[in-house]
Amino acid sequence: MNKRSVKDLDLAGKRVLVRVDFNVPVKDGRVTDDTRIRRALPTIRYLISEGARPILISHLGRPKGEPDPKYSMDPVSRRLGELLELQVNKLDAAVGEEVERQLQEWDGQGVVLLENSRFYPGETDNDPELARQLARLADAYVDDAFGAAHRAHATTYGVAEHLPSAAGLLMQEEIDNLERVLSHPERPMVAILGGAKVSDKLSVIESLLGSADTLLIGGAMCFTFFKARGYEVGKSLVEDEYLDEARRLMDEAGDRLVLPVDVVVAGEMSESAESRAVEADKIPPDMMGLDVSLGTVGLFRGHIENAATVFWNGPMGVFEIEAFAKGTEGVAQAVAESPAMSVVGGGDSVAAVSKLGLEDEMGFISTGGGASLEYVEGQELPGIAVLPDESDKGES
Ligand code: 3PG
Repeated sequence: MNKRSVKDLDLAGKRVLVRVDFNVPVKDGRVTDDTRIRRALPTIRYLISEGARPILISHLGRPKGEPDPKYSMDPVSRRLGELLELQVNKLDAAVGEEVERQLQEWDGQGVVLLENSRFYPGETDNDPELARQLARLADAYVDDAFGAAHRAHATTYGVAEHLPSAAGLLMQEEIDNLERVLSHPERPMVAILGGAKVSDKLSVIESLLGSADTLLIGGAMCFTFFKARGYEVGKSLVEDEYLDEARRLMDEAGDRLVLPVDVVVAGEMSESAESRAVEADKIPPDMMGLDVSLGTVGLFRGHIENAATVFWNGPMGVFEIEAFAKGTEGVAQAVAESPAMSVVGGGDSVAAVSKLGLEDEMGFISTGGGASLEYVEGQELPGIAVLPDESDKGES
């Protein structure tokens, strides 16, 4: 990573505003998946070990720019305290005189967690006044919220313009691992792409064709490719307006783009639907494809086993329904068993990996959903772009 790191900052005795991505699922007042909290712990612990005072801030959900108890950081605060085994001083606001007063009185023990940044309309508007108010709370700013780096908000962008800033350890790890697979992968590099729509993944496919030796395509988006090849697709999800684009990509990629050879079909997408496997070009007119089948898993496994680098984004089928989860499970297992350096990015494939308990078998799991996709597309993420370069060791 060529960005200034938290390790380059002068930290002793400093109040450090840390943007984390604690946008985690919460149910009945409890955090149901604490992965993102755990992944921020190294930066928080590093700051404490260097004698800094971490003041954490994050968004949670999509409240409408005003306080909403449903999106309070209280459940996050409780879980953070358990994981950190330190006192978490949770405040009821993120900026303002009362917050400044409470920070003045803080004895420096543990950490401070501010309230949801999206309780302020200025957050998503990247309001300069909110950025200034945030900057008043601290001596330095560390951005560890890779998951929110595709947002140019007051806490991910604006505030960095007012304080000495740097990337946190998780941010650094995310960038280093994504760069490792995209910019200088060990070859062969195999990319596996799933998900429902070609339209969502067009730029990702384009970009991966630039770095991957082989691109394995699963998920419902394969049916648009099937139709573009002239296969019967029955009632499967197809984006007709992208058929030309799919043809162009197949022409461009040649045999580097690998499509499923068989799929699991059913009359409808439901738990109770009867399902069976058919060859890819033999989907009956009254059926829809909902997963890749065994032949495809075997074919994909062959590529994955021989890869030196694997990048995986998106499920192979409707993995929330047991009958259509085998393709995603098979691919997850193959990636886990492969000796390749693997990077898994994006919400759904990560959820599949956790459901199977395979997290420890993967090389690196990105905490970013939209952010990792935009990164792979080659877009400049504002939350990263705003951070000073490594060479710029000055205090800006
Ligand atoms: C995410 O969960 O992908 C990030 O936290 C960003 O959340 P957002 O899509 O609500 O901006």
